[in-house]
Amino acid sequence: MSISYKDLGLVNTKEMFAKAVEGGYAIPAYNFNNMEQLQAIIQACVETKSPVILQVSSGARKYANATLLKNMARGAVEYAKELGYEIPICLHLDHGDTFELCKDCIDSGFSSVMIDGSHHSFEENIALTKKVVEYAHANGVTVEGELGVLAGVEDDVVAEKSHYTKPEEVIEFVSKTGVDSLAISIGTSHGANKFTPAQCTRNADGVLIPPPLRFDILEEIERKLPGFPIVLHGSSSVPQEHVETINKFGGAMKDAVGIPEEQLRKAAKSAVCKINIDSDGRLAMTAAIRKVFAEKPAEFDPRKYLGPARDELKKLYMHKNINVLGSADKA
Ligand code: G3H
Ligand code: 13P
Ligand code: ZN
Repeated sequence: MSISYKDLGLVNTKEMFAKAVEGGYAIPAYNFNNMEQLQAIIQACVETKSPVILQVSSGARKYANATLLKNMARGAVEYAKELGYEIPICLHLDHGDTFELCKDCIDSGFSSVMIDGSHHSFEENIALTKKVVEYAHANGVTVEGELGVLAGVEDDVVAEKSHYTKPEEVIEFVSKTGVDSLAISIGTSHGANKFTPAQCTRNADGVLIPPPLRFDILEEIERKLPGFPIVLHGSSSVPQEHVETINKFGGAMKDAVGIPEEQLRKAAKSAVCKINIDSDGRLAMTAAIRKVFAEKPAEFDPRKYLGPARDELKKLYMHKNINVLGSADKA
C-alpha cells in the first residue's frame, strides 16, 4: 500500500529551495540510517531553527529497512514538534540509480528523490531523469538530477576521476528533464579522503590544503540558470580534531582531507541551496565511540557510547547550520 509524504507530515524541497536561493543560504542535507543520527539531526535543527533534508541512500535503506525508515521520518516530524518548534522536514532519496528505486521511495513516503544518471551518457541521463520527474511530479515529489561526476565512492557508483559539470549542458538538461534542482561537480568529492596528498599543497605545519573549488564553473552555471537551485554533494570538511581522536584511540585514517568550511560558506551564499554532509557525521560518531572504548574499556552498555556519539553529532550539525550553511533561524 502506498503512502504520500504529506500523510507523514513531510514537505518537498520546492519552498525550502526558493527561500534558500533568495536568502543566500543552503539547506542541510544530512544522511542517516539509525536512531541516534536522526535524534541528533532533529535536536540540532530544532535548536537552531533550521529547515532540514533527511537523506537516505539505497545502502542506508537496505540497512535500516524501508518500513522502519518511513516511520522514523514520521516520528521525526512528531519529535520536532515535541521539542517545541516546528521545522520543515524533507525525506530525500540520496543517489537513486533506477526509476524503480525512485518510484518505490515515492510510494513509501519520500518527499524528494535524487536520480543520479551522471554515470550514463548525456542522452540516457536525460531520458532516465525525465521518466522519474514525470512520476514524481504526478505525486507532488521534487527531483534532483546530476550532471558531471564526482570523484570518490557514490554508493554503488564508483568514479575514479572527477568530471566537472559542463556549463554548456545545463540549460538543455534542466529544460528537457523538468528537474527541480541540479547537483553539479565543481571539485567536491565523497568520503573522508577527498584528495590524494599529491593533489594538495601543505601549509607550514604540514597540514594538507586541498585544491580550491571551481567557483568559476559555478558562476557560469548560475549565469545560464539564474535562480535555479544547485546542489553540492561530497561537502564534508573532515574536521581534523575528529580524525586525530580516531587515530589517537586506535584508528588508522591516513591523509583524510575535506572541503574547507569557508568555501562551503561562500557556495551557500550563491545558488547552491542544498549541501550534502555524511562523512563528517561518521567521523564525529566514530571518534566519540573510540574514545569511550579506549577510556572505559569495561563499558558495555551501548547507550554509554552511542549517547556521547549522539552529543558530538548534534554539536557538529549545530555548527554547520549556524556557521557554514547559514540555515539557522530560517525555519
Ligand atoms: O554519497 C554517498 C553517501 O555518503 C551515502 O553513503 O551509500 O555508504 O550510505 P552510503
Ligand atoms: P560527504 O562524503 O562529503 O559527506 O558527502 C555526502 C554526500 O554527498 C551524500 O550524497
Ligand atoms: Zn552524494
